Amino acid sequence: MKKKEIISGEAIQKRIREMGNEISRDFQGKPLITVCVLKGAFIFYADLIRSLSMDPEMDFVRMSSYGQQTFSSGKVHFSKDMELSIKDKHVIIVEDIVDTGKSISYLSRVLEARGPLSIKICALIDKHERREIPVKVDYAGFVLQKGFIVGYGLDYAEKYRNLSGIYELTPEE
Ligand code: IMP
Ligand code: MG
Repeated sequence: MKKKEIISGEAIQKRIREMGNEISRDFQGKPLITVCVLKGAFIFYADLIRSLSMDPEMDFVRMSSYGQQTFSSGKVHFSKDMELSIKDKHVIIVEDIVDTGKSISYLSRVLEARGPLSIKICALIDKHERREIPVKVDYAGFVLQKGFIVGYGLDYAEKYRNLSGIYELTPEE
């Protein structure tokens, strides 16, 4: 596989500061809980929460799909559920990338039933080409039309999560 940088680490950090300002403005003085979707969002989450000028509660979830293809069946479940209550709190789900929209729409639906004040979606990458479920990403870092990307938390076969920038992965000629 060949990898080519498409978003530099510096560009990511600059964008995260803007997103942090926007979220802080929107939720100042309100009860907020941010939810990191493991594993892909862990690096983005760590930087995003440190760019906030407020102190949200924080929690983590991890989802898995039944079967091989990631989330292709649309049958998603928790392999790690939240530990904190979201009742009467505003929730921001923090994802690495929204692709087909299946996993985030499942997660929003499940959390919606737990009585939050609101649920917003924050994703570093909003990738449009393969969207199947109309999902609105409220806070999007970067919009991509297509491509398979790695780095900054995103993996291919559990590798490349440690890269500071985002790279497009393509098969060798
Ligand atoms: P969904 O298709 O919107 O349900 O996205 C599910 C998951 O697929 C994301 O959270 C990522 O973990 C993974 N994914 C989708 N596109 C990419 C990509 O370009 N690189 C790495 N992982 C991806
Ligand atoms: Mg993911």
